[in-house]
Amino acid sequence: MSDATVLDAHGLTKHYPVSQGFLKPKALARALDGVSFTLKAGKTVAVVGESGCGKSTLARQITMIETPTAGQLRLAGVDVAGADHATKKALRREVQMVFQNPFASLNPRKKIGHALEEPLVINTTLDKAQREERSRAMMARVGLRPEHHQRYPHMFSGGQRQRVAIARALMLQPKIVVADEPVSALDVSIQAQVLNLLMDLQEETQVAYVFISHNLAVVELIADDVLVMYLGKVVEQADKRELFALPRHPYTQALLASTPRIDKAARQTRQVLSGELPSPLNPPSGCAFHKRCPYAQPRCAAEVPLLRQPADGRTVGLVACHFAEAVAERALA
Ligand SMILES: Nc1ncnc2c1ncn2[C@@H]1O[C@H](COP(=O)(O)OP(=O)(O)OP(=O)(O)O)[C@@H](O)[C@H]1O
Ligand code: SF4
Ligand SMILES: [Mg+2]
Repeated sequence: MSDATVLDAHGLTKHYPVSQGFLKPKALARALDGVSFTLKAGKTVAVVGESGCGKSTLARQITMIETPTAGQLRLAGVDVAGADHATKKALRREVQMVFQNPFASLNPRKKIGHALEEPLVINTTLDKAQREERSRAMMARVGLRPEHHQRYPHMFSGGQRQRVAIARALMLQPKIVVADEPVSALDVSIQAQVLNLLMDLQEETQVAYVFISHNLAVVELIADDVLVMYLGKVVEQADKRELFALPRHPYTQALLASTPRIDKAARQTRQVLSGELPSPLNPPSGCAFHKRCPYAQPRCAAEVPLLRQPADGRTVGLVACHFAEAVAERALA
């Protein structure tokens, strides 16, 4: 793990026990099933996939809100599972979160200045004047005006609220910000402003982002690397440019084909995502995508495809598909 690596996840897994009813044994929802990736300072990994594929579950493991069922998580070089209480507390400061609806977690009766200064009260020895100085400086950095310091949450527009949430997440100078659908609830014009703000702040502070989105158009703007998830697993992992130029997994192709920005390779596959996402309580055998995949063969239902680099040398990313090479031939034809 190089020095600049701020996050290293290996086989992260989260299975939730789910009640099936009175006297019935509990079932396991395989919400997250062996996800591995690394993230470097100043970089953004985007996590995409349909609703229910495990994006927020991944976020809850990375931010230490939950404890994974299996797998290893290293934050800033430290193995979280083996860390003592004080180390865990310090690590929690390094990983902050921005939600789709940040004001659900803010007290409507407290002014914005208070919301920004709260993390400093808990985690630093700064006095009141120093805390206010910090919060006002941060407000300026995220494009909020000085008078906003004394305003209440309900007095802000959606875009301003997300600026507040970003400011709050950055108050303790974390190494990582996990943003779960941070712009999904905003108008398209406001989305671009908030994304640009995130990118500017990253350039200034070298903070790393785990950026969760179901919208590939947004991902194309902000990501360095992309993880495409399906039913708790990564099915494709690639550099953003490679992924958009040659989406290899049939699922990635289908996602791209249903995004307004449709690139050449995705358009030529002419496929639309049909059928529903299966339940993580009872995932299909073999490749979990086989019931929806236009390329499926008998092998697909029998054998789980490993995440691997295709042998044709066209890209260097990883794909979990038995027929990745043939699928690429078809997409490029
Ligand atoms: N606490 C829980 N108990 C049982 N099942 C859960 C729990 N949390 C999540 N799940 C299940 O795990 C799967 C993944 O959920 P998750 O919220 O991570 O998906 P998501 O990709 O964030 O979806 P969305 O795009 O809708 O936010 C879903 O099938 C969900 O029902
Ligand atoms: S392994 Fe088979 S079912 Fe799965 S994506 Fe590849 S071709 Fe489709
Ligand atoms: Mg979610």
